[in-house]
Amino acid sequence: VLEDSPYRQLRYLGEDLPSLLELDRDGRVISLRTFSKILSPGLRLGWIAAHPEVVSRLVVAKQAADLCTGSLVQIVVREFLKAGLLPGLILRNRELYAEKRVALLSALEAHFDPAWGVHWTRPEGGLFVWVTLPVWMDAAELFQRALAENVAFVVGGVFHCDGSGRNTLRLNFSHPRLEQLRRRPSRPRACRAPGATLWTPCPGTSPSPRR
Ligand SMILES: Cc1ncc(COP(=O)(O)O)c(C=O)c1O
Repeated sequence: VLEDSPYRQLRYLGEDLPSLLELDRDGRVISLRTFSKILSPGLRLGWIAAHPEVVSRLVVAKQAADLCTGSLVQIVVREFLKAGLLPGLILRNRELYAEKRVALLSALEAHFDPAWGVHWTRPEGGLFVWVTLPVWMDAAELFQRALAENVAFVVGGVFHCDGSGRNTLRLNFSHPRLEQLRRRPSRPRACRAPGATLWTPCPGTSPSPRR
């Protein structure tokens, strides 16, 4: 059992749940962890928690694949951990991300008319909100329009292996600054116009969000 668990330490609501590794009685679980979300993605450093025999096999396999992770990065992180700086950083980031999460969810509520049939998750942790657009919409097409407004997201189709999910997208809330998440739209609110493949500005709509 491979447990891919990069977001465990980034919970803002609800109760902590046991990891599969903690529930494992037979040494079957390989848990993948990373410093990407709790320290810095650019380090390209993570770790594995698993049965020692599995770990020693994986060490050999990794050596064969890439001749080991760079030691300088490992030393930097080791010193960071030894200095006891990680828990405080995670705590601060958790507070900041929790605030950003609320900012993004509030912005979605303010700018998306319920009549448009757009739905999104209210995640208790992690860095993303998953948005589901009406089925007739193509997130890839919306992406081009969003880019023109300096907004980027990941189109949901890439997370599906069967060609579905074209009307879904993943929004990140940890990276943008709070003021960017709270920014009022500079364009009139959009709506579905007859014949439009995406939302197009409604004539006469106000540039300010509802509420
Ligand atoms: C679910 C999941 N697993 C693993 C990773 C891997 O992170 P990294 O390769 O930066 O350690 C990510 C990063 O976005 C992720 O979202």
